[in-house]
Amino acid sequence: MVDAIRVEGLTKVYGELVAVDQVGFAVRAGELFGLLGPNGAGKTTTICMLTGLTRPTSGSAMVAGQDVVKRPFQVKEHIGMLSDVASLYNEMNVWDNLTFIARLHGLHRNKRSERIGDLLDLFGLIDSKRQPVGTLSTGQKKRLMIAAALVHEPEVLFLDEPTTGLDVQSARDLRSLMLELHSRGVTIVLTTHYIQEAEQLCQRVAIINQGRIVTIDTPDHLKSLVQQECFVQIAFDRPADELRARLQSLDQVERVIISGSGARLYVKDISEIVEPLIQAVTASGARVVSFNTNQPTLEDAFVTLTGLHPEVMLADKAADG
Ligand SMILES: Nc1ncnc2c1ncn2[C@@H]1O[C@H](COP(=O)(O)OP(=O)(O)O)[C@@H](O)[C@H]1O
Ligand SMILES: [Mg+2]
Repeated sequence: MVDAIRVEGLTKVYGELVAVDQVGFAVRAGELFGLLGPNGAGKTTTICMLTGLTRPTSGSAMVAGQDVVKRPFQVKEHIGMLSDVASLYNEMNVWDNLTFIARLHGLHRNKRSERIGDLLDLFGLIDSKRQPVGTLSTGQKKRLMIAAALVHEPEVLFLDEPTTGLDVQSARDLRSLMLELHSRGVTIVLTTHYIQEAEQLCQRVAIINQGRIVTIDTPDHLKSLVQQECFVQIAFDRPADELRARLQSLDQVERVIISGSGARLYVKDISEIVEPLIQAVTASGARVVSFNTNQPTLEDAFVTLTGLHPEVMLADKAADG
């Protein structure tokens, strides 16, 4: 698999401050890659260096086959970027805004309206195409900004904290949109300070703190680094002792604790136990009345790896305004 992005020793120094410190990672083509870290970690600075907006102090980066350090302007045609800086005209309607951007990119007239129609369909904005951008909701505007970043069919899409400041429903819509783009093969680099968002969307996550990458891995593997007991807590319509033998005989179960109609089964991997457990219970004629699981989250991994409390990330943001 070809790397869409390859970064080595990327560093940005502002006076005394090392904002990004020897950052290195690679993103595979088609991957949805997350940069997760608290406010001030260096996420935006990293994205700006990868998109040719900020000159690195040192290091190297190839993005979509372009050397962004040596030739920062060449990369622009190959990437799309969502940033805080709005590039849309409020008085112009949705369709005309995208047409304007398509013309800037030199998209041929015939291709233009097809591309824009497709994007507005995908982004749920087709019914608003004649609406001035200034009258759109915050969520619609954010979606339009991402559509604008995709007009020229870039190979890599950079989304810097796309869901920050959105209401719950709009953020949810945007997350499914990111998954849809991912399924269509767009390489996406997403920065976020929401642990759940990284866990839900990203194939791999780089945890960044104080300009340095702490670790890079899949959410599942990061979770498995956390030493925490996984168990299933299950309750039956009868004393659990009647099922003790069956529960203990399950391959995946390491230990069983029975108490009244409840049983706690300690396991290595929750996903492995569900099927055989339900089968064993059904075969015994018993009924399950409640079922809960306890397993480590990416949040637990984050705390272990960075020593930061996840609340700190949200508090920082709030204080920021
Ligand atoms: N233009 C700049 N001049 C000086 N310091 C900056 C500049 N841009 C960012 N910084 C500093 O670099 C650090 C990283 O910032 P940033 O990349 O915006 O973090 P994040 O996006 O993770 O919140 C912060 O301490 C920030 O104050
Ligand atoms: Mg930022």
